[in-house]
Amino acid sequence: MRIGILGAGDMADALGTQWARAGHEVLISGRDPGRSAARAERMSARAGAVVRAGTWAEAAGFGQAGVVAVREAGLLATLQAAGAALRGKPLIDVTNAAEPAAYDPTRSLARRISDITGAHVVKGFNLCHVDVWRMTPPVFDGRPLAVPLCGDDPAALEAARTLVADLGCTPVDGGGLERAAQLEATAAFMIGLWFGGADAQAVLPPLALSGAHEPPAYD
Ligand SMILES: NC(=O)c1ccc[n+]([C@@H]2O[C@H](COP(=O)([O-])OP(=O)(O)OC[C@H]3O[C@@H](n4cnc5c(N)ncnc54)[C@H](OP(=O)(O)O)[C@@H]3O)[C@@H](O)[C@H]2O)c1
Repeated sequence: MRIGILGAGDMADALGTQWARAGHEVLISGRDPGRSAARAERMSARAGAVVRAGTWAEAAGFGQAGVVAVREAGLLATLQAAGAALRGKPLIDVTNAAEPAAYDPTRSLARRISDITGAHVVKGFNLCHVDVWRMTPPVFDGRPLAVPLCGDDPAALEAARTLVADLGCTPVDGGGLERAAQLEATAAFMIGLWFGGADAQAVLPPLALSGAHEPPAYD
């Protein structure tokens, strides 16, 4: 698949390198053409495949699927510069709030991206630090990382599931795009725990004790 990434930072680098390695054609984009080109060159060397760099509009036009991987501060300007080419395309939104502590769930980033672009937005990849996305594959205690995806369009969700599987991860149905606000809020909450020094993984019980299943028998 041709993947046009809006972003040439760490997330674009981590995910784009993995997808290029998996055989996809990747084009990244940023504000500074020289910096983006240098990043693409380093990604190409690691992926063993050519990663291109271009403008925001070139990335929007290039992709059969797009990815939004920019900082919230630059989101609006980036999407405006990307132009109309994203309309109707699968668009994976990996963004998180610039200030997780002040995250406002009434204004989800995913919904804003959908409204501005007219793309079929799928929220995902926002729960884990970039270092996790560099792992080949991200497997913890023998379990592949599960990646929740929230979106409304079946074809866009299918594209997102493919890109999750290409990382060696397991896609999880996270519901429709209206649930993206909850996924963003979850990231904001977990980031608060991690940066506060807590083991956020330890706050969740095993599936059998989630309340959605018959609990094990106790003495
Ligand atoms: N890093 C993580 O661990 C992580 C994990 C999950 C989700 N995310 C989310 O993914 C998105 C990208 O994160 P990242 O780590 O790749 O960030 P990054 O390394 O700082 O890269 C930021 C990207 O945003 C672009 N950008 C456009 N306008 C900007 C502005 N006004 N200020 C700053 N950057 C601007 C930058 O363009 P240039 O290339 O021209 O600088 C760059 O391509 C963010 O929304 C972040 O919350 C990050």
